[in-house]
Amino acid sequence: MPPLSHTLREGLSLWGARSDDFEDAGLEEAFDQRCRRKLVDHGASVAAVTLAAALLFWPLDYVVLESAARAAFARWRLVVALASALVLALTRFNVAPRALPAVWVSLLLACTASVGDAMARAGDPASPYLHLLYLPLFATVTIPLRLTSRIALVVSVALSAALGYWGLHPAYRGHPAGALWWSVMLGVGALTVWLGHVLLLLARENFAHQRRLSTWAGELEARVGERTAELRALLAHVEGVREDERTRIARELHDELGQELTGLAFVLRFTAERFERDPSAIRANLGELDAGLRRTSELVRELVSDLRPRLLDDLGLVPAVEWLARRTEERAGVRCKVIAGDLGEIPLSQRTVAFRVVQESLTNVLKHAKANVVEIEMVRRLSQLVVVVRDDGVGVAAARADTTRSAGVGLVGMRERAAALGGAFSVIARSPSGTEVRCSLPL
Ligand SMILES: Nc1ncnc2c1ncn2[C@@H]1O[C@H](COP(=O)(O)OP(=O)(O)OP(=O)(O)O)[C@@H](O)[C@H]1O
Ligand SMILES: [Mg+2]
Repeated sequence: MPPLSHTLREGLSLWGARSDDFEDAGLEEAFDQRCRRKLVDHGASVAAVTLAAALLFWPLDYVVLESAARAAFARWRLVVALASALVLALTRFNVAPRALPAVWVSLLLACTASVGDAMARAGDPASPYLHLLYLPLFATVTIPLRLTSRIALVVSVALSAALGYWGLHPAYRGHPAGALWWSVMLGVGALTVWLGHVLLLLARENFAHQRRLSTWAGELEARVGERTAELRALLAHVEGVREDERTRIARELHDELGQELTGLAFVLRFTAERFERDPSAIRANLGELDAGLRRTSELVRELVSDLRPRLLDDLGLVPAVEWLARRTEERAGVRCKVIAGDLGEIPLSQRTVAFRVVQESLTNVLKHAKANVVEIEMVRRLSQLVVVVRDDGVGVAAARADTTRSAGVGLVGMRERAAALGGAFSVIARSPSGTEVRCSLPL
């Protein structure tokens, strides 16, 4: 059989309350402080309700009570109204705030004793007035107190009632109604302790939840702030890159293509003049024209490939990535291995994102990694396209520590592109050195 304490705790948990202590001592202290504040507020609200009830129901006494009882009731109404008014005034003018809880607990006890006295004056123990003395116990239910203090308060209130009734009126002692009164008082006392404690436990749980929620809200706000700043930087970067790209294309069109075309126009004019004079002498010029046209179309192809490789649209992701790898090898002297099985049909948006992730990762490798070998792996796994770019360079942490400028937006851009398709993106430091960029995109 489980121990009694366990059964009791289970009983409490039926009400949704746990008695576990807070995980952290700061929370315990904060909750105690809040309880002290609540005690003061609670004192004021109980005083206000009591004052209103004592005065508003006064006229009823003239309807339901005989004159002896009416005088006794008037007495307690007056005492209780004065005590409540005192509590309200002290709270309102914030007199001795630290002593307020003690003051109003003392007034509660004094009022209970006075009500006990009044009930004894209203009639003997056989009259129903005696049983109104259970009511003050309920005033303790909403007081935020620890269990031992709560038991002490409930016992004190019960004893005050007994003092007012049986203590000030010894003639009533030994009356047969006394035993019943004490036993009901015991039951009501236990009930109010239990209810009060359950309320306190619920308040504790509520307090802990609120604290946790506000911590989470703070963290969430910080993360949203970080992400917003990142996205703002990304937007600025994208705008900048677009402008740079336009400038570069304009320059290349002007410098390279423009020059070639001017040359071709010149050769053509010269060939036409020569043709007039000596048609058989233009063979060499035609060869020059042919070479010029070849160079121009090569230039156009390079320009277009830089913008978006046709391979990506015509032949698919793997040939486009292989082309990118060969170009990186030629331009930067880093070995690029492409590992890819049969990926099947990949939708256009996933193909584009995967290609751009590989492109930016290769740029990062050249810029930061000081690597010798890069591996680009592409697989289709559980209806996901997984792209991994790993290098054997210095690693992200070392590269970051080395850099003096602020963090760029390449990684943020890749993560955002992946997120826009519902995918995941991560950068992992490899052991013993190197970096692995991993991007999975749902298909
Ligand atoms: N393969 C890598 N090896 C080592 N460090 C890397 C690698 N990739 C990224 N990093 C580190 O991560 C940082 C952030 O990379 P990110 O691409 O976001 O910015 P960036 O390359 O510095 O600038 P941007 O891409 O905006 O031109 C880099 O500055 C670098 O320190
Ligand atoms: Mg970068």
